[in-house]
Amino acid sequence: MNKAELSALFASQFGAEPTYVVSSPGRINLIGEHVDYNSGFVLPAAIDKYMYVAVSERDDNTICMHAADVNQSFQTSLLDPLQHSNLGWPNYILGVIDALQLGGYTLKGFNIFITGNIPVGAGVSSSAALECATVFACKQLFKLDISKEAMVTTAQLAENKFVGVNCGVMDQFASMFGKADHVIKLDCADLSYTYFPFKLEGISIVLFDTFVKHALASSEYNTRRAECETGLAAIRQKYMVASFREATLQMLDAVAVNITSAVYNRCKYVIEEIARMEAACTHLLAGEIAAFGARMYETHTGLSKLYEVSCPELDLIVENCILADAIIGARMMGGGFGGCVIALVQSSEVDTLYHQINAVFENKFGRSMGKYVMQIGDGTALL
Ligand code: GLA
Repeated sequence: MNKAELSALFASQFGAEPTYVVSSPGRINLIGEHVDYNSGFVLPAAIDKYMYVAVSERDDNTICMHAADVNQSFQTSLLDPLQHSNLGWPNYILGVIDALQLGGYTLKGFNIFITGNIPVGAGVSSSAALECATVFACKQLFKLDISKEAMVTTAQLAENKFVGVNCGVMDQFASMFGKADHVIKLDCADLSYTYFPFKLEGISIVLFDTFVKHALASSEYNTRRAECETGLAAIRQKYMVASFREATLQMLDAVAVNITSAVYNRCKYVIEEIARMEAACTHLLAGEIAAFGARMYETHTGLSKLYEVSCPELDLIVENCILADAIIGARMMGGGFGGCVIALVQSSEVDTLYHQINAVFENKFGRSMGKYVMQIGDGTALL
């Protein structure tokens, strides 16, 4: 969508043109899953699918929101304590307002119009995109003195505190800092980052969507995070380590008697994934794409067997990707319990392989899976 179209939609809702229109993308993640909140490295990229917000300042203290894709409106006053909305989507905007106010920023009333083309519930972070678009729009509207990094952590705080998902920083960082044709190697311990070119000749980044949207995803996510904290605390009772970054499998084994087998497995996965991510980056820089793909499959096995955040639909797709020579690597992506498999596929074979794997999927689950071919796009920006 372009600025003129979004401005016209805004005007039909609010009676005048918006002051700013902002776009913020969803994200993929090539490798480094469930390690962003464990001081690991991740390798995400922004995609060419966006949440758009159009905004204008009001004369009063009212926040007026309209979400075009669900045709719902919501309104609240900045003078009242911010309350959660049963509609769901307003909470991402309210969460950003709350986080900005906690950060000491002063806001006034505004109108905000929301639309987008990021598949919701597919694990490509439409919520982080909405949070980043909102914080960026507020920065513009109220001339806030806030850095890109602080916008990222404000958007993350919105999700942690107001929405109630104790997520890491990856999704918001990728949405804000994305760069076309590049993946971001992000050190989640200190937010330092490097862009790596990622345009592989003849290879496409494909998402296979299970269309499974697991109702327990956010509570299970918070449980995984708590299990990791328990495991790290056990390791730290015996060893001087600041984070999982310095922990080893030997250390974990030495404290195994003090933790449950579930906590042991979660920690084993995290320690292995942090090392695997480093190896995968070395492969990528050396152009060893087959070795990179092999690491992706290993990540899937870890997420499925040790971290237990996969589901039968994701597992079936990955099992069938392994059988296809034209698929270099594949794994479930994001928080889990549904959403998409990310696969690196020889471009000429994408359609054939989709039909082949979908036939198996349909046979087992009685319905089709989805398919999106992704381009790596730019991060949050003014239109
Ligand atoms: C979700 C969270 C991220 C990250 C991934 C798993 O997308 O929002 O912070 O933890 O899951 O890697």
